[in-house]
Amino acid sequence: MPARASPANDPLMTFASDVTLGLTREKQKELPSKYLYDELGSVLFEAITLLPEYGLTRADERVIRRSAPETGRCFGGALIAELGSGSGKKTRHILNACLRGPSLTYAPIDLSATALAVCAGQLDNGGIEVHPIAASYLDGIGRAAALRQRKQKLLVLFLGSTIGNFDRKGAVEFLRKIGSCLLPGDGLLLGTDLEKPIPKMLVAYDDPTGVTAAFNLNLLGRINRELGGDFDLRMFQHEARYNAEHRRIEMHLRSKADQAVTIPGAQLRVSFVCGETIWTEASHKFALAELPRMAAEAGFVHQQHWIDEEWPFAESLWVRVAGP
Ligand code: AVI
Repeated sequence: MPARASPANDPLMTFASDVTLGLTREKQKELPSKYLYDELGSVLFEAITLLPEYGLTRADERVIRRSAPETGRCFGGALIAELGSGSGKKTRHILNACLRGPSLTYAPIDLSATALAVCAGQLDNGGIEVHPIAASYLDGIGRAAALRQRKQKLLVLFLGSTIGNFDRKGAVEFLRKIGSCLLPGDGLLLGTDLEKPIPKMLVAYDDPTGVTAAFNLNLLGRINRELGGDFDLRMFQHEARYNAEHRRIEMHLRSKADQAVTIPGAQLRVSFVCGETIWTEASHKFALAELPRMAAEAGFVHQQHWIDEEWPFAESLWVRVAGP
């Protein structure tokens, strides 16, 4: 008998139910940031990484390049899994440094088959055997771990400070779950964006070209396209703000008027008062000193880190220790 569509197995139903949940919240309306990345959103994010104001991705690449020889010394011959389909440019430095013998297996993990295909096209050469895994991050690590040869180590890459998009408690929980998929001696290479002067952080998320605004507003466009919503995108304004208590940049969409929106695919009609916002993303920023603590809480030992001086950003190499 064919499986009945339920939120658990139908992405559109899950989207509709997350939109309903987020837009009917009493205090602060919210939409989960993972929905920023549809086809258009992913292209807009790529454009963000090219902006002079958004130094994060370039810092990540510079520091990966510097960390590669040591990562290769510790994890040469390892199976490499990456959370998110890595860009060939960044990941290639690590893969080359870890290549021993004729080939190395690289398993990018992503829900998007399109993103995985692009990644495979960029990296499947020069002795790199790409084994794409279309799955959620944690399921994917389990499947990647099954590919390892006897006694082969597994190195997981979680680059680009995507960990900053989790809330702080959720980040440690997620890192602990990654750890529980690994064996003692396995590694995690983790990218984290460090705290920097507030104006520098704010302009990175509210660039004068308006690319980040388009990236944020596209989330309402996605609701219109996929759930039949009637958001008038011109009636919402992108806003980036620094939350000092939580040390994070938040992206919001501010309603420019009292208005109501209908979303038939979610069977929802929702009202906004002028000035009210929808919170769409949190980007937590880290202090260097908290990283070894996070490693210990998640079941790793912090082995080494590399810092980019131009755009404070840390790449940390953690090793899984024995334990629960
Ligand atoms: C993917 N992530 C680490 C980016 C960030 O900086 O939080 C997403 C982003 N949002 C706005 N600009 C970039």
